Amino acid sequence: MCNDDWKSFEGCDALRIMHVMNIAVAILGATGYTGAELIRLIESHPHFQVKHLAAHSQAGKLAGDVLPGCAGKIAAMTLASADAPLPEDVELVFTALPHGAAATSVFAALKAGKKVVDLSADFRHKSNDVYKAAYGADHPHAELFEEAVYGLTEFTRSDVARARLVANPGCYPTSVLLPLIPLLKAGVVDNTSIIVDSKSGASGAGRSAKTDLLYCEINESVKAYGLPRHRHVWEMEEWAEGFSGAKTKIRFVPHILPMNRGMLSTMHLSGSDTDSWQDILNTAYADEPFVKVLANGALPSTAGISGSNRCDIGVAVLSNTEVVVVSCIDNLLKGAAGQALQNANLMFGFDETMGLATHALWP
Ligand SMILES: NC(=O)c1ccc[n+]([C@@H]2O[C@H](COP(=O)([O-])OP(=O)(O)OC[C@H]3O[C@@H](n4cnc5c(N)ncnc54)[C@H](OP(=O)(O)O)[C@@H]3O)[C@@H](O)[C@H]2O)c1
Repeated sequence: MCNDDWKSFEGCDALRIMHVMNIAVAILGATGYTGAELIRLIESHPHFQVKHLAAHSQAGKLAGDVLPGCAGKIAAMTLASADAPLPEDVELVFTALPHGAAATSVFAALKAGKKVVDLSADFRHKSNDVYKAAYGADHPHAELFEEAVYGLTEFTRSDVARARLVANPGCYPTSVLLPLIPLLKAGVVDNTSIIVDSKSGASGAGRSAKTDLLYCEINESVKAYGLPRHRHVWEMEEWAEGFSGAKTKIRFVPHILPMNRGMLSTMHLSGSDTDSWQDILNTAYADEPFVKVLANGALPSTAGISGSNRCDIGVAVLSNTEVVVVSCIDNLLKGAAGQALQNANLMFGFDETMGLATHALWP
């Protein structure tokens, strides 16, 4: 804040700019895949600076001893415990923790006066009943549901910019909602018969040891999981209706593929005016930096978005009542850390593209 002792208005502005230039950031869950991706993004961000890293079973170790991708000053940082008090000068906290654990840390960070982007599912729902149906437990801080802003950035920009708490969307829901919402809003999709077949790279399941994610279980294999109702279906249906007003029923089957990152969702849709669907999506995303609607009939690939914060969408009209829409995101970027940074940029008044790549790592 400026006070009367300051010599000049210019000096006051300069100090304010210096403050804005250096916003201290904490990443809780820094040793996980999304936490590591956040470190990578924040390290090259012009205004955010990594100040505090925290973990759970790895707390007390050096970041560089746990994260193979980490170097320099960040590698020399000691990992705090996720429930340790946050440094006073930290203004922004990313919680990249398992659901359940995240809620407690989010509550503590807000109480300490920080802004929070939560990458877990803990604040993506608006009622305890829905949260409990999806995650099997009562929510410890349901009183924060009303305040939390669902951060599907393209549809909630102004709310995100004012928020203290942003609930970053799930990876599968992001890949499904971005193509679906404009079509639902236009009233051209039969909202009772949406079938989604999704594929994810193994990083989508996180870094903790699980037998069914061992190399020999995953390599040279593709498998479906999560039936009869994967927990992300509640999120997709809640927000498809929330953004479009149309009560929506989604049949969703996820699959895990032997690749590190990337997510492809194939939506089998029926409805009316199918010749207009390409134009509806073109118009909806014409000015969006991170959503690319491909030319009529072209289909996206995970290689085309890997390492970028983009969602690519392809439309194939099968008949005058049937359309297949395919979308691709990098689950760790637009599906997690990238969208989280997009939202954090807005919360601090920066251009939402700051520190984020539109171009993929290709080849
Ligand atoms: N992976 C994705 O593509 C993706 C996409 C969207 C959203 N998400 C969500 O983002 C969150 C993080 O996902 P991730 O894939 O990065 O997970 P992850 O790789 O399994 O990492 C989890 C992190 O949380 C810490 N942790 C584990 N158990 C904890 C507990 N009981 N209390 C506090 N901290 C704990 C771990 O610390 P230690 O290593 O020290 O044990 C680690 O830093 C999850 O809620 C996930 O659903 C993930």
